This record gives sequence, structure tokens and C-alpha cells, in this order.
Amino acid sequence: MKLAIIGYGGMGSYHAELLGQYASTAPADPLEISGIYDIDPARVQAAKERGLRAFSSPEEIWQDKDTQAVLLAVPNDLHAPYAEAAAAAGKHILCEKPVALSTAQAQEMYAAAKEHGVLFTVHQNRRWDDDFLTVRGIIESGVIGDVYKIESRVVGSNGIPGAWRKEKARGGGMMLDWGVHLIDQILQAIPSKVVRLYCEYSYIYGEEVDDGCDLVLHFKNGISVRIVVATDCFRHLPRWMVYGIDGTAVVEDWDLSGGVTRVIEREDKNLVGMRAGNGFTKTMAQRSHSSVQKLPLPVVHAEPFAFYKNFARACAGKERIAVREEEVLRVFRVMEYAAKSAEEHVVIDAEI
Ligand SMILES: NC(=O)c1ccc[n+]([C@@H]2O[C@H](COP(=O)([O-])OP(=O)(O)OC[C@H]3O[C@@H](n4cnc5c(N)ncnc54)[C@H](O)[C@@H]3O)[C@@H](O)[C@H]2O)c1
Repeated sequence: MKLAIIGYGGMGSYHAELLGQYASTAPADPLEISGIYDIDPARVQAAKERGLRAFSSPEEIWQDKDTQAVLLAVPNDLHAPYAEAAAAAGKHILCEKPVALSTAQAQEMYAAAKEHGVLFTVHQNRRWDDDFLTVRGIIESGVIGDVYKIESRVVGSNGIPGAWRKEKARGGGMMLDWGVHLIDQILQAIPSKVVRLYCEYSYIYGEEVDDGCDLVLHFKNGISVRIVVATDCFRHLPRWMVYGIDGTAVVEDWDLSGGVTRVIEREDKNLVGMRAGNGFTKTMAQRSHSSVQKLPLPVVHAEPFAFYKNFARACAGKERIAVREEEVLRVFRVMEYAAKSAEEHVVIDAEI
């Protein structure tokens, strides 16, 4: 299976590196790079220096019999036109996230793939992040009892990166950049429908697109989730907080630091009050050691290169594609409702 990378920027070159590592494992389901295409001569040069072939035009890829698939790692507004041309040329398509600029556009891309009998999927790769898999394991194992509230957060202080991510027409903004991943993870982890949501976007840097978002999702099964993306925060905040009726788990970062605190004795008989600011509190005091148990995070690791392996196998008809159309469109519907909520400052009742 050979794939051409269209767009050899930050993500395209990262894929090239990872695909090189995948190839070095001599996989049973190979996925090799036939070449790249980029409009920027500097990126073409960078690819050549890595020993990759540079196609001179997209048409050369469409006509290349050795290339069965394409990986679209171009700015977001170019996903749709490239996907439609690649489908017409009979190439399977691995598209970077966010799949498109709207649900309707995403549906057209899927329709084009079906019309031409090619596989189409989206790189919603953070489903295979160890921190996420660990949180999902915590929810499913019941180690902190029934989970009722989750905070999923990514924060940085570097603003919106690059040029095109600052432009609305190009699919810029942090909701489309990071929000898509965090929503996808949560929809994978919670087997229930979203029934209510509220969202605020931030515009701290004065760009025409959001530089952060704060989204609250309520699910039919009673779980509420807060998703926060920030590019203006100079201090570390936990990547995940998971609240269960019998305890709390924290995943500090992608390095999987953190832990689980589980209640042993609900009413803490040895609880000692403390001074807090100008007052006194027992409510907010630390529990005594005898009333809780501290456990390491039950870390879950993803299978290495699971995404590429699945894509190669799915193209060969050996297994079902992992990131499915209805899941991709569902994430988009949540993002569209979130945009409406943020624009109109309203809580939205839904059934997504
Ligand atoms: N899944 C992830 O974890 C992840 C992470 C980062 C980026 N992405 C996605 O990858 C895509 C690319 O993002 P990036 O950060 O690499 O952007 P980037 O700006 O670093 O790279 C984009 C590349 O596309 C090239 N390009 C622009 N117009 C082109 C055209 N018409 N034809 C061919 N090449 C063209 C640019 O020259 C550039 O090299 C985006 O959709 C982004 O959302 C995904």
C-alpha cells in the first residue's frame, strides 16, 4: 500500500517520520510513502533531503499507478477540493482533521468517496492517546465509582500558531484545531447522547477566529463534561480531571503523571478544620490519610501505529475503518451547535 502526502508542512512531515518508523517495524500491513506534493519549494526541498520523491503536481499523483492512497495534510479549507479530486482519481483518502469546514461539506466528501468506490477517513488520532485511553479505562473500570463529571483541557500560552489558522475562511480557530480532538475523545468515551450544551469562544488576541473555547456538554446518562482549549494560559493546568461518586482521578499531562484518590471512609472521622484566608473551614480541608486511598494511574497504552495499521487493513478490505463517517459527522454537529451557542449566548437543547 503506497500513499502520497499532500501538504508537507508541520503535520505532513510528522506523518512522514511516523510512517518511516512504522515501515521499520516490517509490518504485516505496510503503508509506505510514494512521495509528497507541496506548493512551497522550501518544503519540497525538505522532503527531498529526507529522500522522498516530490511529485510536480497533484495530477501526477492522480496518474501514478503505484499510489493507491493520499494523505491530505494541507490547510483545512483545502481538504474538500483535494478529497474530491483524489476520489475522482480512485485514490483512498486519509484526511487530516477537521475533515471540512462544515457538516454539509463533510457529507459531500463522503459522498464523492462512495461514488468513486474509495475509502475515506479522518485522522482523529487522539483516540489513541495514552492519557485518553487511561481516562476511558478509569471510567469503565469503576475504580472511582460512577463518573458524573469530566474536565478535558489543553492549555498553552503561544497564541494561535501560523498564518492560516488565524483566518476564518481557511478553517482557522482553536475549536477546529483542538476542539475537534477533545470532542471526538469524549464522544468515544461516553456511550450516551449529548442533550444540552453551552459554549463560549475567546478572542484574547483579537483575531477573527477563536483562540480558545470553553464547552460544556451534558449527556443523557447524567455525565457532564467541560472541554477547555486555551492559548493564553501561562500556567500548567491538569489535562484531565475525572470525578466519580467514590473518588477523583487526575491526569496531569501527556506524560501520564497524576493519580487516583478513592474514598475508604466517606465521613472522615479524623477531619481537622483549618484556617483558610481570613476564615476557618472544615468543608475544604484535606481529608485525613485514613479516609482515602491514593493509587497510581491505571495507565493504558495504545498499540503502536494502530491508526496506520487500521487504515492499511481497511483499504485492503481486511477490517472496518476505525474512524467512521457517522462519528466524524457527529463531532461536527457538536461543533456547529457549539458555534451557535457561542454566537447567540444560549444554552442549546439537542439530541446528538
Ligand atoms: N491530527 C493532528 O494531530 C494534527 C496536528 C497538526 C495539524 N493537523 C492538521 O494537518 C493539516 C495541516 O496542518 P499543519 O500544521 O501541518 O499546517 P502547515 O501550515 O504546517 O502545513 C501545511 C502545508 O500545506 C502546504 N500547502 C498549502 N497549500 C497547498 C496546496 N494548494 N497544495 C499543496 N500543499 C499546500 C503548505 O505549503 C504547507 O507546507 C491541518 O488540517 C491541520 O488541522 C493535524
